[in-house]
Amino acid sequence: MQNQLRNILENAREDISKAASKEEIEKLRVEILGKKGRLTALLRSMGSLPAEERPVVGKIANEVRESIEEMIAQAGEKLKAAEIQLRQKAEAIDVTIPGTPRSLGARHPISVTIDEISKIFMSMGFSVVDGPEVETVFYNFDALNAPKNHPSRDLTDTFYIKDAKDVLLRTQTSPVQVRTLLSQELPIKVISPGRCFRCDTPDATHSPMFHQVEGLVVDKGITMADLKGTLDAFVKQLFGSSTKTKLRPHHFPFTEPSAEVDVSCFKCGGKGCSVCKGSGWIEILGAGLVHPHVLEVGGVDTDVYSGFAFGMGVERVAMLKYEVDDIRLFYENDMRFIEQFR
Ligand code: DAH
Repeated sequence: MQNQLRNILENAREDISKAASKEEIEKLRVEILGKKGRLTALLRSMGSLPAEERPVVGKIANEVRESIEEMIAQAGEKLKAAEIQLRQKAEAIDVTIPGTPRSLGARHPISVTIDEISKIFMSMGFSVVDGPEVETVFYNFDALNAPKNHPSRDLTDTFYIKDAKDVLLRTQTSPVQVRTLLSQELPIKVISPGRCFRCDTPDATHSPMFHQVEGLVVDKGITMADLKGTLDAFVKQLFGSSTKTKLRPHHFPFTEPSAEVDVSCFKCGGKGCSVCKGSGWIEILGAGLVHPHVLEVGGVDTDVYSGFAFGMGVERVAMLKYEVDDIRLFYENDMRFIEQFR
């Protein structure tokens, strides 16, 4: 019996040393020490030994059991350590590997231009107001004194919201003039940049969506001189200190008198070049004194107050300033284009 015990111990030592996983060790434990295990079976047969041998064999049996239990525990620890080491190796991060480069975005040239224009007017005491892109016929046309048969009201020029004949995508930022007159106390001195929409087929100079900056000043005794002085100061900051303005008579329904404003070519200084198409002058905006009808809709006493207004195309300014020859480039979001305005 003692030999048998020794055999069990030796076999266990060998088997356990070969075990390569927790599962294998557990299996060995059950095979040796479990209820139906080898050692357990042997101990059960001890009853057949002569009484004087029993304590000796019992002692050895206990020692064998303890040894095997310890071997199993040690093997388990060793496997656990090896497993942790393996996992650490697999999950290791090499902090010396260079990171994946991510390209930075850049401010869009239209945003850059709007900010530039806004900053100049803000330095002259203007505040910036916002208006809705989805407008009503009232604000976009009626209140701005547009004749009922004005061609810009046509379906071919204006995007109307389907099944709502009175609602449209604003064709200009001028409706913000009326909204401001109705909501703000006098005097008023605001600009309003934003998106506008017209049914235009895209080409190098047209886009169905574009941006304008509207300007409105209403106070006592405002004249064309105030308009001219403000625009002079503005273009000098935007295009350079030697830039001059020229007002040409024009017609807009919401201003009287109305003018188109040209600036002396900032590229050639007026001699004539490709930017000004040889004329020395570049048209940049529409302006005028606010029509009394518009002021009246806005609840302004026209005996006391007068005002000037102007509106300019942001894309046009950006195209001139940065010599971009196709408006569609602004809407393609090609980073090679946009990054040049960083
Ligand atoms: N709303 C005009 C347009 O879209 C631009 C304009 C002209 C705005 C004269 C004005 C203005 O405020 O006084 O063509």
